[in-house]
Parts: sequence; C-alpha cells; structure tokens
Amino acid sequence: MPAVVIIGAQWGDEGKGKATDLLAEHIEYVVKFNGGNNAGHTVVIGNEKYALHLLPSGILTPGVIPVISNGVVIDLEVLFHEIDALNARGIDTSRLRVSANAHVITPYHVTIDKTTERFLGKRAIGTTGRGIGPTYADKINRVGIRIQDLFDVSILRQKVEGALVQKNQLLTKVYNRASIRVDEVVAELLTYAERLRPMVADTALELHEALQAGKNVLFEGGQATMLDVDHGTYPFVTSSNATAGGASTGSGIGPREFKTVIGIVKAYTTRVGAGPFPTELFDAWGEQLRATGHEYGTTTGRPRRCGWYDAPIARYSARINGLTDFVLTKLDVLTGIKEIPVCVAYEVDGKRVDEVPVSQSDFHHAKPVYEMFPGWDEDISTCRTFDELPKNAQDYVVALEKLSGCRISAIGVGPARDAIIVRHDMLEAK
Ligand code: GDP
Ligand code: IMO
Ligand code: MG
Repeated sequence: MPAVVIIGAQWGDEGKGKATDLLAEHIEYVVKFNGGNNAGHTVVIGNEKYALHLLPSGILTPGVIPVISNGVVIDLEVLFHEIDALNARGIDTSRLRVSANAHVITPYHVTIDKTTERFLGKRAIGTTGRGIGPTYADKINRVGIRIQDLFDVSILRQKVEGALVQKNQLLTKVYNRASIRVDEVVAELLTYAERLRPMVADTALELHEALQAGKNVLFEGGQATMLDVDHGTYPFVTSSNATAGGASTGSGIGPREFKTVIGIVKAYTTRVGAGPFPTELFDAWGEQLRATGHEYGTTTGRPRRCGWYDAPIARYSARINGLTDFVLTKLDVLTGIKEIPVCVAYEVDGKRVDEVPVSQSDFHHAKPVYEMFPGWDEDISTCRTFDELPKNAQDYVVALEKLSGCRISAIGVGPARDAIIVRHDMLEAK
C-alpha cells in the first residue's frame, strides 16, 4: 500500500466490482479515475444486488470515501439518480467527492454519440450510447464543459455557446436533426449546481494529502486494457485510458505512488460491441458460457460475445499495466466442461505469433492456437481455499498463471461477495 490500482485485463466486465469489494475493508478512499456511466459493475452483497455505473463500487463499503476524479466524464442526471437509488437502500453517499476538473456529459454529447453510431452503419463501434466519446473528444478539442464551470454562469454560457456553434451545424446540416438551444442546455446543467456544490473538491490535493497521511487509496478502473484508447483494439475502444497509467493522469497522483496494480481477468473472455476477438465462439460453447456466466451487459443488457481464455491478452495486460497480481474470476462458470481450450498463441498468415500483434489487421485475422486442459465436474462455488479445489481446477489455474505473466492471487468461484479464494496477500508491502 498505500495506492492500489484495479484494472480490467480483457475487454471489460471481468468482475472488477467484486475485486474492489474484496479489498474495500482495508481502504479509506476509492477513486474512479476514467470513463463514465458506460461502466456497469454488479456487486452482490448477501441477498442484495447492486448495479453501479458512475459511482465507484467501493461506495458500498461503509466508511470509505468515494471520489470521482478529473479523468471521469459525468452525466449529472445519472449521478444524482444513482445517489438517490443508493440512499433509498440505506447506503450513505454523503462523503462523495467530485473533482472540479472532471468533464460534464451534456445532452448534446449523448445525441451526437447515438447519431454518429447510426451514421457509421456497418462500421459502428457499438458504443453504450452514453455520450462518452463525444465528451472526451470535446475535452481534447478544448471545448468541453467542466464541473467547475457550473459555478460561473457567464463562463458556462460562453462555453456551451462555443461548443454548440459547430455541433448545431453538424446536427442540422449533416445529420438532419434539430438544433440544440444554448438556453436549454445551460438551464438544465444549472439545475444540478447547488446540489453538486458541497461535493466539489480539489480531489488531486485531497488524495495527495490522504496518501501523505499514510491512508490507503484504491483506484478503480472502468472498462479494460483492450478497450483503452491507446493500448486497446483501436478504433473499437472506449475514449479514455483504462490502463494503469490512467490512474495517474486521471487523478493527479504521480506514478511513484502506485505500488500494487491488480488486473482482473475472467477464466474465459467476453466482449460487448464490435471489434476483433480471436477466441470468440459462435457455437454452442459460446451459448453455454453466456448462459452459465449470465453474460448480459449491466449497462445496456446486450448479450456479451463469449470465447475461451486468451493468454497472450493476459500477458499483454500484465506488461502494459505493470501488474503485480491477477484476480481470476468466474472459474465456477467452467465447471462441467470436459476439456477446456486455452489460447496460448496466435497463428497469423501461417506463422505462430506469441504476443498480441501490434498491427490491427493482423489481430483481426489472428487465429487462436489452443492447448487443452482437463476440466472438473465438482461444484466449486463453496471452496474457500486453493486446496479445496478439484485437482484439475488447481492445475488449470496454475497453467493460466504460467501463461499469463503474473501471479494469480485470488480466484472467484461465484457471484457472492465471499465466493473467493485468496492465495496471496495483494496488499503486502512491496
Ligand atoms: P465489472 O464491469 O468488471 O465490474 O464486471 P460486471 O459487474 O459488469 O460483470 C461481472 C459479473 O460477474 C457480475 O454480475 C458479478 O456479480 C459476476 N461475478 C463476479 N465474480 C464472479 C465469480 O467469480 N463467479 C461468478 N459466477 N460470477 C461472478
Ligand atoms: P465495465 O467498466 C464492457 C465498450 C462498448 C463499446 C466500446 C465503446 O463494466 O467493464 P463507449 O460507450 O465507451 O464509447 O463504448 O466500449 N464498453 C464496455 N464494454 N464493459 C464496459 O465497462 C464497457 N464500457 C464501454 O460496448 O464496444
Ligand atoms: Mg461491467
């Protein structure tokens, strides 16, 4: 400790919410540093199931201070809706801190996201339609609206006006849509300002001070390595840095603070939306993984594409993120499969390739090279130690560990909070 990062090691939905929940009792701050309400984390606590999108899942642990830092894009309607829903279920959200520098998703970003996808036709990314890409585009293009702008009405108006000059041309002349009125956008954003005011903070400073005071801070990544705008399967990615480096730029905490970097990886692979996916299954095995693993999106309800474990992707994630540990989730979903294929390398144009190819065209037609591992039939969902797992399940985990470039420190064996086997203390001093 004290700064710990959790990131997705595949294409998202690896069970990051559960891993956060596992560590949360040792944590004083939990920080969402990238993405927005494109994320969907399902956390099961006792008989209660929570679906979170914008708020970090660590908010479910009493006493933890949740932080939305500068790297996040915020839809304020969603933020307050999520806060109200948690409050109605008795969860305290009063300590939430929101960065003054985070960018705001406005209704025009959502409109442009959806309309652009429609115009892309066959080339569509399959976005979540939450306005994520257009909001980050405006940030990089320096025409974004930040949380702090809500507290200076004349600046807010100028910025919305500036942003809409081009966008209304695009909407009316290219997309044949109605133009958006500055007054309406400003009025809507201002309805949130007073409720937001007490939460707004210099979160980079607060987190720095917390770390200086020896507090434990968990940085919870949204999306995943293969959806990272720089290191993922571009253009079939999200628009933020979902890799460990994003925790630094997305929060204002220098890279020397991050000692523990945990990658969450499923015992197989899923992906939502378009883009390459070498181990994708189009047969009954894919159906089985989807049904057994309940692989339907938390955010959009879309069926997730399913495939076998891809070790080159795990190795790539270990390298790009500088992982110290993997948490392997959903091992229970593989129960009952006689022989489990694991992709150990690819074949590209007749040649064996051991690493994720840098050329996207090569990755698009990379064929998985499989090794087969014997499966198990026993129900593993009640196992709480590694030794209790059937021998073949143990061997499967050890094989993945060897292939994936980093130790596997915990293993998920069911959706429940306690359905996890801990092999190594991930928070030990490094
Ligand atoms: P996130 O986006 O990475 O937080 O993951 P999601 O919440 O979108 O998807 C992971 C799903 O898997 C959730 O419904 C979890 O409750 C569930 N889950 C997490 N760990 C396990 C596990 O070890 N076994 C099973 N069967 N389900 C799990
Ligand atoms: P969590 O945090 C899985 C995918 C979308 C689409 C692409 C771009 O739950 O793991 P965007 O709306 O971000 O512009 O969409 O990224 N995507 C996710 N897939 N899990 C997520 O989040 C995702 N967030 C975005 O499906 O392919
Ligand atoms: Mg998810």
